[in-house]
Amino acid sequence: MEYQAKELFAKHGVATTLGKVVTTADEAKAAAEEIGGVTVIKAQVKAGGRGKAGGVKIAKTADEAYEHASNILGMDIKGLTVNRVLVTPATPPIEEYYFSFLLDRSNRSYLTIASVEGGVEIEEVAKTNPDAVKQIAVDAGEGVDEAKARAIVNEAGFPAELVEQAVTLIQGLWTVFTEEDATLVEVNPLARLEGDKLEALDGKVSLDDNASEVRHPEHEEFVIHEEADPLEAKAKAKGLNYVKLDGEVGIIGNGAGLVMSTLDVVAYAGEKHGSVKPANFLDIGGGASAQVMADGLDVILGDEQVKSVFVNVFGGITSCDAVANGIKGALELLGDDATKPLVVRLDGNNVDEGRAILDELNHPLVTQVDTMDGAADKAAELANG
Ligand SMILES: Nc1ncnc2c1ncn2[C@@H]1O[C@H](COP(=O)(O)OP(=O)(O)OP(=O)(O)O)[C@@H](O)[C@H]1O
Ligand SMILES: [Mg+2]
Repeated sequence: MEYQAKELFAKHGVATTLGKVVTTADEAKAAAEEIGGVTVIKAQVKAGGRGKAGGVKIAKTADEAYEHASNILGMDIKGLTVNRVLVTPATPPIEEYYFSFLLDRSNRSYLTIASVEGGVEIEEVAKTNPDAVKQIAVDAGEGVDEAKARAIVNEAGFPAELVEQAVTLIQGLWTVFTEEDATLVEVNPLARLEGDKLEALDGKVSLDDNASEVRHPEHEEFVIHEEADPLEAKAKAKGLNYVKLDGEVGIIGNGAGLVMSTLDVVAYAGEKHGSVKPANFLDIGGGASAQVMADGLDVILGDEQVKSVFVNVFGGITSCDAVANGIKGALELLGDDATKPLVVRLDGNNVDEGRAILDELNHPLVTQVDTMDGAADKAAELANG
């Protein structure tokens, strides 16, 4: 979130103003009084376009700050509920620029994107005047020293009177990018304020999760638990690779590639069955023990939107009989909590043994289908019924 990004900016000496983060209109009023003068009330959600959605408002007085905060708190911005606002001094920008460092995966390198025509309309500028948006490669081995920062500033075309500040600020952002193990550091707008002061008026940082446990345990403090979807939080606690989607057919598979293809075939089959869609992504990975299967089913069945579940497993290292036993054990573990029809498609290693186990089980909720397309169709049909 913006306020967290700004904390990281401040930690590494990037010019910005922190302001105060609050969760109630009363606190917003108190914060505005404390800051004094004109303030800006800014919705804190992990989505762009907050200003355009009405989530950024100027408050001339503390009472106005109260008004705006009560309107913005609880607001829905791109499906996210605003639970906190940032109260910060109003510093009207004279000009707005855009600046970011990011991973350039296709070139196995880093990339700078900078524009002095930028500001909130950067996406529009990129379409209508792409030459005004500079893309400058950063060699991963060399990084950004003062000379490189200067080259970037020149190429982006920052005004002469801001060059020195821009050089310093960009080096600071590079420190944020590398030392915090970020995959994105974005400032939009990077603003020219009164008195030719250059400052990050907004900020967005994506931190690399792979670095959080060992290299940056302190990043844990940035995790906002209440925002996570409760099912996703439950899945995470059980160590499952789960993403909630907006459909009716629960999906369990092994291997990310197979699960993604499963989402596609279910979406396709769903077109014939009342436009039902996949309800989630869930990759149970290599081991399909009864416990993992039960955990997966438990999370999926907890999704009220789910009407049927498609278990799509290709036996490789984990053979189909182990998976079938996993399903059997899971149904025993779940007992009466298993309430929705399961369509199971097993194929691969020990497929005959696996299918025989489920045939023998003869569970009223379980239907076996031999092919992936056939099983997707059956699961969609059941979800629609
Ligand atoms: N402290 C401030 N003082 C005065 N104006 C501000 C301040 N912060 C933001 N603004 C104005 O509001 C606009 C939108 O703010 P901001 O960039 O933070 O949100 P956004 O661009 O809508 O969100 P996002 O960047 O996530 O899409 C800025 O371009 C700027 O003109
Ligand atoms: Mg912005």
